[in-house]
Amino acid sequence: MKISSVEFIKSAFEEEHWPQAALPEIAFLGRSNVGKSSLLNSLLGVKGLARTSNTPGRTQALNFFLINNRFHFVDLPGYGFARVPKKIKAAWGEMATNYLAKRIQLVLSIQIVDSRHEPTTLDLQLHEWLQHHAKSRIVVATKSDKLSNNELKKSMERTQRAMGAERVITYSAMTGRGRDDVWRAIEAAINDVGF
Ligand code: GTP
Ligand code: MG
Repeated sequence: MKISSVEFIKSAFEEEHWPQAALPEIAFLGRSNVGKSSLLNSLLGVKGLARTSNTPGRTQALNFFLINNRFHFVDLPGYGFARVPKKIKAAWGEMATNYLAKRIQLVLSIQIVDSRHEPTTLDLQLHEWLQHHAKSRIVVATKSDKLSNNELKKSMERTQRAMGAERVITYSAMTGRGRDDVWRAIEAAINDVGF
């Protein structure tokens, strides 16, 4: 897809602050520090648009971006960051699941996992939740540049097994690997709905 404009719209901590536009939305979900913001930036080819960091828990609100005046990307807070106090952790989870459950504009959830690791319990729980709620979804295994071809092959088979029959896209924000595949899934999701 040709990107003609990218605009940060807002950070929302409350449901009242979600944008009201009836535009299709693509949500980026995954464990803290897995590379959600980096995936979003690399898809758009804009460095530093969604803030990335070595410190897990960088993204704390729902961040909305408007692309080509046509659809939104939503960068969600990460889950499973151990050092966050319980109360805050619960609020994050609630913010994200509330969004996923209620948002009519949501046309695709992109669940990001780390290609180096076995999917965590929380990864699998989220995956089941999305499946159960019949949400359109894809799984993207990122940071693939950190593995050898052989390691990557094994790890992709493992992720595929853990995630059921679903297709898993191999990705790297560093090299751009997988970018076209992810865009194809996004375009299909956007064109599928009558917005
Ligand atoms: P939170 O917002 O804290 O939940 O994190 P996040 O999931 O948005 O992760 P973020 O994009 O901030 O990336 C975390 C770290 O992983 C950063 O240091 C990135 O540079 C690095 N990273 C992300 N994707 C890749 C990738 O594909 N390859 C490599 N080598 N590093 C990556
Ligand atoms: Mg982030």
